[in-house]
Amino acid sequence: MTQANNAVYTDLSVDDLVKEALNRGEGELADTGALVVRTGHRTGRSPVDRFIVEEPSTQAAIAWGPINRKFPADKFDALWARVEAFNNAQEHFVSHVHVGAAEDHYLAVKMTTQTAWQNLFGRCLFINPAQYNPAGREEWQVLNVANFECVPERDGTNSDGCVIINFAQKKVLIAGMRYAGEMKKAMFSVQNFLLPAADVLPMHCAANIGEDGDVTLFFGLSGTGKTTLSADESRYLIGDDEHGWGEGVVFNIEGGCYAKCIDLSEKNEPVIWKAIKHGAVLENVVIDDAKHADYADVSLTQNSRAAYPLEHVAKRSEKNLGGEPNAVIFLTCDLTGVLPPVSILNEEQAAYHFLSGYTALVGSTEMGSGSGIKSTFSTCFGAPYFPRPAGEYAVLLMQR
Ligand code: OXD
Ligand code: MN
Repeated sequence: MTQANNAVYTDLSVDDLVKEALNRGEGELADTGALVVRTGHRTGRSPVDRFIVEEPSTQAAIAWGPINRKFPADKFDALWARVEAFNNAQEHFVSHVHVGAAEDHYLAVKMTTQTAWQNLFGRCLFINPAQYNPAGREEWQVLNVANFECVPERDGTNSDGCVIINFAQKKVLIAGMRYAGEMKKAMFSVQNFLLPAADVLPMHCAANIGEDGDVTLFFGLSGTGKTTLSADESRYLIGDDEHGWGEGVVFNIEGGCYAKCIDLSEKNEPVIWKAIKHGAVLENVVIDDAKHADYADVSLTQNSRAAYPLEHVAKRSEKNLGGEPNAVIFLTCDLTGVLPPVSILNEEQAAYHFLSGYTALVGSTEMGSGSGIKSTFSTCFGAPYFPRPAGEYAVLLMQR
């Protein structure tokens, strides 16, 4: 079939997205059926390229600084128009997804990507609603154009790539970024700003649920064990990374998982292993001539990743949520051994550790942080994704 060269492919099936990605040479299939792609010189998030548009409706509520960098509103409008025109001139992909499993708190998102594989990634990580429903709320737009090259002098960016959130216009602009994790973390930042206003605590944590309905949360920075520990064969998975905690409910913000693959084995992580099949995306995983993944090969990066939808996990919470948590665990990843291996905290101690966020940074998940692992303090166990002052999240935690 010959298509005009600026065709828009809307809400394709997973099968068709995989086919389109293969047709375009965006990746290849592993023997498991997963789509294997490479993300070029960025193999992790780029914190120095992430901005929030400075505008009157949110200006006073944001904790500006090296994490939440200001971007001028007029520069944003100009760059959005430039990137959109570039994207509209060629084939691209649109999917309609939700971000947030709770009826009262989801965002309806129109996700536009230049590449088929990034659209598939979004379909893995965001929620594919039975019925897309932007009714009663304005639609957010994510525009993710991987092959657009920003020009800092012209565009006001820091480099050839950027991630910019505009709350007033309900837009996320991602340009020049092939590492797809930027997309999920940008929408997480959006929810992290919006949910507290609805009295919901947004959390960088995994969650699972036992046979008796008991819910456990695992807070932790990237690489500290959230995905691994929540993928427990004896319990039902809610999600591995982003949740909201409202009155009597913990709900997943996402619809899939984003597992680190380094040294992945069937024996140690069977749930993740089985989830990596047709419909999943492997980023920067090395495969051999027989198309078999070699998870021990870190020649592309230590931050190789698997994205897969929750439907690939047999034991999961069907509604993507659970009740009030029974246990809250902070995974500190204490490299220096200053803490006891396990400590039970009272409320005040929990608030203190939540705010100080003593943990370890796995360098490979953030560009510019080196390849090793080092002790750090990351407030809320996820400082890079929280636009408001940390104290606001700690107050919500104390109220739970
Ligand atoms: C992630 C992260 O990828 O926290 O989830 O870096
Ligand atoms: Mn995360």
